[in-house]
Amino acid sequence: MTTKQRILVTRSWPKPVEDRLSRTYDATLNADDVPMAPEAIASAFSEYDAICPTVSDKLPADIFPAGTPRAKILGNYGVGFSHIDTDAAKAAGIVVTNTPDVLSECTADLAITLMLMAARRASEGEREVRAGKWAGWRPTHMVGTKVSGATFGILGFGRIGRTAARRAHHGFGMKVIYYDAFPVKRELAAESKAEARDSIEAVLREADVVSLHMPGGKENYHLINAERLAMMKPTAILVNTARGEVVDAAALAEALLGGTIAGAGLDVYEGEPTIPPPLLETNAVLLPHLGSATRATREAMGMMVADNLDAFFAGKEPPNRVA
Ligand code: DGY
Repeated sequence: MTTKQRILVTRSWPKPVEDRLSRTYDATLNADDVPMAPEAIASAFSEYDAICPTVSDKLPADIFPAGTPRAKILGNYGVGFSHIDTDAAKAAGIVVTNTPDVLSECTADLAITLMLMAARRASEGEREVRAGKWAGWRPTHMVGTKVSGATFGILGFGRIGRTAARRAHHGFGMKVIYYDAFPVKRELAAESKAEARDSIEAVLREADVVSLHMPGGKENYHLINAERLAMMKPTAILVNTARGEVVDAAALAEALLGGTIAGAGLDVYEGEPTIPPPLLETNAVLLPHLGSATRATREAMGMMVADNLDAFFAGKEPPNRVA
């Protein structure tokens, strides 16, 4: 009888995925869903053959063991992996995988949701109704911004950015412009008649809605800062479904309060789950990191982690290896 590999799943996952993992592996699950302490994650490297973390776990360089760890793979549940120091993982001989594609549609849907909520002042409106303060219909009440025909600017024209672009273009007749650090195939841009711009700044100056779809991490830390916010139109809306650290939240709060831009829709925050306090004083739409949060997508993400583990332990290249 072969012994099953020991795997650690750091948070509660959809039941069909946990059932599959428990059939194949000696799986430790987190039924209470309490986030694990960094010390517990650190010890897991010597106790498990695989660790399956999520964005709510931090795996900086100093959490990785100095010697040879028992764990040989981090099967990350999520496409973004800026919470994992992949250089340290590589140095420790640990493979890292992620879950791309399966969440592109739902995350793009949420970017569009945030655009509409911010443009049409949906959160403000709902707060007014629930507070019993709605005084009835009137021509000048809670007037927002028309998105149909406006310009949708994308920073980071990867899978999620392109999916959002198609929705904006085909759903709302928006003109799509984008900047990406890497060349984009002509046929991919053609799907939404997207026009490339040669810099972040060019997109910021021209767009009515700016939607962020680049990875987080050091290279994009506070990419959207006071100087760049000042380049946006005073009527513009910023949408962030990427990673919180891409935006300087204090600068964004100032820009919203001072009228530098008109609105923002945010799903991600630096230091989640704490919302940077200045943002709470603004009209920004604030959601709790719901980008991929549909039953179908969360299950598909988990199954993808399981596929990666299965391939790895069968001695094959995991399909979604990122380090
Ligand atoms: C993702 O997949 O990156 C989501 O934001 C959750 O980590």
